[in-house]
Amino acid sequence: MATTFTPRVFSGIQPSGGLTLGNYLGAIKRFVDMQGAEFETIYCMVDLHAITVWQDPADLRKNTRELCAGFIASGIDPESSVLFNQSQVPEHTQLGWIFNTVARMGWLNRMTQFKDKAGKNRENSSVGLFAYPALMAADILVYHATHVPVGEDQKQHVELTRDIAAKFNHDYGVDFFPVTEPVIEGAATRVMSLRDGSKKMSKSDPSDMSRINMTDDADAIAQKIRKARTDPDALPSEVDGLKDRPEARNLVNIFAAMNDSTVEAVLADVGGKQFSEFKPLLADLAVAKLSPISSEMARLMEHQDEIDKILARGAERARALAAPILKQTYEIVGMVGA
Ligand code: TRP
Repeated sequence: MATTFTPRVFSGIQPSGGLTLGNYLGAIKRFVDMQGAEFETIYCMVDLHAITVWQDPADLRKNTRELCAGFIASGIDPESSVLFNQSQVPEHTQLGWIFNTVARMGWLNRMTQFKDKAGKNRENSSVGLFAYPALMAADILVYHATHVPVGEDQKQHVELTRDIAAKFNHDYGVDFFPVTEPVIEGAATRVMSLRDGSKKMSKSDPSDMSRINMTDDADAIAQKIRKARTDPDALPSEVDGLKDRPEARNLVNIFAAMNDSTVEAVLADVGGKQFSEFKPLLADLAVAKLSPISSEMARLMEHQDEIDKILARGAERARALAAPILKQTYEIVGMVGA
């Protein structure tokens, strides 16, 4: 009979740069929504993943704390969720090593994120970048997490996590690791560039006008929305009318996601309006939702000791969950002294 596992959510974000509206609507806001009675929630700043490509140490420290501030300012409660940075919980790396021996070269060779990040320069990319998905599987499975909210781009890694769990269970003849479910973001939460509706909103886009940063103040947010690229037509009243209009679709998606509404409901309301009328509505909504977050982030960033205390406490709670699972894994594998 299959073991039943406690419903437990795990997800991680790399502290490798500034946070954008894409991180907020695509990830953090959903993490906040999953907090509560149904699941235990564990959220991690994956600093060990970040260094698989070069990170300046001072930037890494700042980005880790800023990500923590972003989580809390957005509504992650460090009491009801376990909130911590990965490197303070060595069990991730320890289980990651075991999984390096379970995952096959052929599996990792197929990972599209590795191919994209390594590019033509495969020989010169770090071993860590190649082994990245095995550590990610360890992040998830060291808690026996059952649900993993991620973007579409991480689906392949969660499937690999399932393959690793299944192979481990099979090879050692146990029913120990759960087969984790990815919880993939809906289309409405995929936020695209404000300058080009076919590209994902990204912290690495050279144009700052292409994105809303979670640290932007009210004026910057309003200005970026005012200047966002659109087409000359009025908004449609039906979803079908957004076909082949990526910029229009993106702005309506952002409106719906921020308003906890649906694209259908938004269009029923604003269909027929010109962008000159719609943009101020969107700007007001974005400012109302985001500027309290950015000002709370700024306040928290002035209290680094508070942030560091929260992370240390979160790591302690995470270790209490992870240590027994790692110990049992070592026993299963045959490590003397486990
Ligand atoms: N690879 C994820 C990303 O780049 C981050 C990540 C690391 C993660 N470990 C994880 C996400 C575990 C979910 C679960 O977005």
